[in-house]
Amino acid sequence: MSGTTPGGVLFVCLGNICRSPLARAVLQHKASRRGVDHLLEVDSCGTGGWHAGDGADPRSVAVAARYGVELRHVARRFDPRSDPRRFGFIIAMDRSNIANLERAGLPPGRASLLRAFDPALAGAGPAGLEVPDPYYGGDDGFERVYAMIDTACDGLLDHVLRATRA
Ligand code: 4NP
Repeated sequence: MSGTTPGGVLFVCLGNICRSPLARAVLQHKASRRGVDHLLEVDSCGTGGWHAGDGADPRSVAVAARYGVELRHVARRFDPRSDPRRFGFIIAMDRSNIANLERAGLPPGRASLLRAFDPALAGAGPAGLEVPDPYYGGDDGFERVYAMIDTACDGLLDHVLRATRA
C-alpha cells in the first residue's frame, strides 16, 4: 500500500500521556540536532483512549525540560486503519502495548519494542526490553524512563536513517 512515510515513526504506549509523547519529543530533538528532522515524521499514540485530547503528564513535561527537550502534545488513540499505512516503524514501550496493538488489528511482528534499539541490551529477551509504565509511581520513575528512552532513541534514529537512506 502506498502512503507509508519512509521515515515514519509512531511511538505507542497505553495512555499516550507519559512514555510515548516523551519518546516522540526526544527522537525529534535528536533528529533536529543532527539536521535530519526533515527525513522523519514522528508521532505518538495510545492503545487506550481515556486521555485523548489531553496534554502530556506534567511529570513527562518536567523531565523533558530538565534535559532541554520541549514537550508539546495532544493525546490520541491508535487508529488501526490509518496508522499502519502512515508509519513504517511502530515502536511500543512494553509487551502489553504490542498485545493491545495486535488486538486492535495490527499484524503480529509489525511493532517493535523501543529498547530493542539500545545496543547495550543486544541479546536481551522481550521481558528485559520494556520501558515500564511510570504513571502510578514517583518522579524517579520518570527519570528512569527518560534515561531508557534517551539511550534507545540514539539506536533507533541510526536504524531509521539507515533504512530510509538505503
Ligand atoms: P503511558 O502511561 O501509557 O506511558 O501514557 C499511562 C498513563 C495513563 C494511564 C496508564 C498509563 N491510565 O490508566 O490512565
